[in-house]
Amino acid sequence: STDRIQFLRSKLAQYPDFPKKGILFEDIMPIFSDPKSFGILIDLLVELIQKEFKEIDVVVGLEARGFLFGPTLALRLNAGFVPVRKPNKLPGDLATITFKKEYDEDAFAMQKSSIKPGQRVLIVDDILATGGTALAADELILQLNGSLLGHVFLMELGFLEGRKRLKAPTFTLFSGQSEAPKGSE
Ligand code: PRP
Ligand code: MG
Repeated sequence: STDRIQFLRSKLAQYPDFPKKGILFEDIMPIFSDPKSFGILIDLLVELIQKEFKEIDVVVGLEARGFLFGPTLALRLNAGFVPVRKPNKLPGDLATITFKKEYDEDAFAMQKSSIKPGQRVLIVDDILATGGTALAADELILQLNGSLLGHVFLMELGFLEGRKRLKAPTFTLFSGQSEAPKGSE
């Protein structure tokens, strides 16, 4: 599986100073434009999840990039898929939260009826950076009395130490190629 991980890594593209100066943007879209890469990605994530977690009732994906592979994973795991969405997108009774992330502020919402109390929830997203996004999702699941099993990401920017903030076990396929920018804390 080291070979498969290296293959996926080779598909990533880095864009310095996007969307802001000092941020090295990791573009994951080439993985999805190539069916072989996407197949390998899903296989690796299913293997990781089946090794680390038992029964999963619901895969929760975070808008937008968590939607790229969350439903495919959920189908493979025989679990449901539920979205966490940005503001003013979901109808009905909502749980909401505001948060800070690596280069922006944002808010998230979930439909209160989308998770039943006690359902075993796995949260998936593409990249763990500061952890602000994933922590907000943790808090929404806890508001809805879901049983929060953990997090799975494609990639982690380890130098930002986002995983320390999260409220459940966290697994990633690989580390980002970016390092802390010179002169940063
Ligand atoms: C990106 C990325 C993660 C988040 C990580 O999402 O997809 O969700 O930032 O950053 P953090 O750990 O510092 O919170 P973003 O909202 O930028 O865009 P998206 O809508 O394309 O997913
Ligand atoms: Mg995102």
